[in-house]
Amino acid sequence: MNTAPKRYLITSALPYANGLKHIGHLAGAYIPADIYARYLRSQKRDVVFVCGSDEHGTAIPIQAMKEGRTAQAIIDKYHQAMKEDFADLKISFDVYHRTSDPLHHETSSEFFTYLHERGELETKETEQFFDESSQTFLADRFIKGTCPHCKSDRAFGDQCESCGTTLSPDELLHPVSTISGNAPVKKKTTHWYLPLAKHEAFLKEWIIEEHGKDWRPSVVGQCKSWIDGGLQSRAVTRDLNWGVKVPLTEAAGKVLYVWFDAPIGYISATKQWALDNNKDWKPYWYNNDTQLVHFIGKDNIVFHCIIFPVMLKLHGNILPTNVPANEFLNLEGDKMSTSRNWKLDMRDYIVDFVKKENGGDQCVDMLRYYLTQIAPESKDSEFTWKGFQDAVNSELVSIFGNYVNRTFVLMHKLCNGKVPQFHSHLADEKDKQIEQDIQEAKQKVEFALEHYKFREGLFDVMDLARKGNKYMQEKEPWIVAKQLGNHPEKQALIDNCLFNCLQLTANLAILIQPYLPATAKKICHMMKVVDKILDWENAGSMKLLSVGYTLREPQLLFRKIEDEEIAMQLEKLKNGVMAEASNTELAKEEKEKLPLKPEIQFDDFGKIDLRTGTITAAQRVPKADKLLQLEVDLGFEKRIILSGIAMHFQPEEIIGKQVVVVANLSPRKMRGIDSNGMILMAEDEHGKLHFVQPENTISGGAKVS
Ligand code: 2FM
Ligand code: ZN
Repeated sequence: MNTAPKRYLITSALPYANGLKHIGHLAGAYIPADIYARYLRSQKRDVVFVCGSDEHGTAIPIQAMKEGRTAQAIIDKYHQAMKEDFADLKISFDVYHRTSDPLHHETSSEFFTYLHERGELETKETEQFFDESSQTFLADRFIKGTCPHCKSDRAFGDQCESCGTTLSPDELLHPVSTISGNAPVKKKTTHWYLPLAKHEAFLKEWIIEEHGKDWRPSVVGQCKSWIDGGLQSRAVTRDLNWGVKVPLTEAAGKVLYVWFDAPIGYISATKQWALDNNKDWKPYWYNNDTQLVHFIGKDNIVFHCIIFPVMLKLHGNILPTNVPANEFLNLEGDKMSTSRNWKLDMRDYIVDFVKKENGGDQCVDMLRYYLTQIAPESKDSEFTWKGFQDAVNSELVSIFGNYVNRTFVLMHKLCNGKVPQFHSHLADEKDKQIEQDIQEAKQKVEFALEHYKFREGLFDVMDLARKGNKYMQEKEPWIVAKQLGNHPEKQALIDNCLFNCLQLTANLAILIQPYLPATAKKICHMMKVVDKILDWENAGSMKLLSVGYTLREPQLLFRKIEDEEIAMQLEKLKNGVMAEASNTELAKEEKEKLPLKPEIQFDDFGKIDLRTGTITAAQRVPKADKLLQLEVDLGFEKRIILSGIAMHFQPEEIIGKQVVVVANLSPRKMRGIDSNGMILMAEDEHGKLHFVQPENTISGGAKVS
């Protein structure tokens, strides 16, 4: 774009509403976008920063199955939780929308219809796996089987959980439906496709010619290899009963593919923002003088740089100006992984730091600082707790916090708590240099932010704080105060130093504001000035604080991170109890919602005969998705018991398990089979079931009381 943009539309990847998000997500798509949005706002530019929950796709029903809840309950729970977490970490979205909202369904249906009516989509008939007992086509994740590579039986239609190989359902050995446990059949189905190959010339011209130099090399590189590998038509519909219904009568039972509707979520979110603020959303998506920037992680590049732009072009919208995708953030030497529980959820940090007694806003800024300092902008990077501690203690506390604190303490001690005057006739080289440093810092940070180099910009702000420390150290106003006796210019020399140090502090507040908003505000409070001073145009000035103005006593900007805190976090990570901590809040809320049953008498309980037993055989019950038929050895006899645990356990994995049985429950017929008792199960906060078991294996038939 040659002319200056009139408005900015900033998007952060819509997170799936299937679980809490970790700090890798935060560092990749949310913190940098927030820094950029705050920077532009401080320049008084017209900015809308949108995000929302991605609530469709197979990820949601799968999570629902795992938690034993409905898909709606899952998205409601995680939408709310993610929204709160982002707010707690001061991610300043102008709107946080959700794709289950009718406005989004309407917007994405209209988008599909527009493309369909103009003949931009193709249809194709293919054969796909179908579960006859539940009468549903099976998404890749709903098919389980044996991996053709490592022979593990933990392989799904899209990927093997054991060896990580990407698979297609056809490659699986002995495929079974995860819904019914039955072998699926192949059935014909028709879908709508976006023929990407038709747009190859446009993509080459737009990405490689137009943006080959100004986009991140890793982004251009990934796009180039996609294009060079030959662009395939992409299905934009799916056979699924969860999502935006395909708006065609001949498409009953089909929904838009989640990756078709999710990015349209950026448009729906903008519409929602416009409705809420009495604005017009259209210029943001149709006018060429809008700068659209998508902040994402590298796994989303193809969707934001190839597929969505083709959709936008066909629909008559503007294209993104830049897609500053980040690489991945590792944790303590290993990839972050939800399934292995090797992660630090945003919620973990919020609970353990932000919401703790000595936490609060400073802990938010401490995390924002470290995650920006190690942002994986050009290659994967790593979060370590030691690194976090060093960044906080040796940089935020010792350099930035210490500089601001010393400036205030000395100003109170040597200048009566007021902004001193600057006596120009005494100005020396160091004074001139520090003024120049301030102006240069502004230019550098500005350049870095305009070019999405957030790490570099942060380094430049810290460098100015370092220079401030050095200047103060060289000027030594405390020594001047002691040693110059009755020197006539003594106070003027002290004044000059503190005047510069204070103006530099005010400049630091402006420059750090996009990165550490709470810290900037705290400095404003200490300087007794309104936040308006933080307008970017004020940076570089040496007149931010008026001479003679009384300032407040200093407050410490950051606290130290203690060794014990680090040791505890490492311990938690290693013990794998992180997930528990991250969900404590949610779990607590949910437990409170589960009322106790009415009180019973001791005799009532005494009537129940609980015994230990061992599962000796297990099989699925035909046409019953939830039931397993178990043979349980009670020591004195073997029983057949039906248990509603088929969604949680494979028959083969529970053989040999010791259980507790309600042994005197009257028999009950289910699906033509007599069930003689009940197995005790406990449900965790995710809705997952666990066997209630004796601590050590004991003999069958033992009494439990
Ligand atoms: O990878 C993800 O988490 C997706 N939910 C991102 C979607 S981004 C956008 F297209 F909505
Ligand atoms: Zn495998």
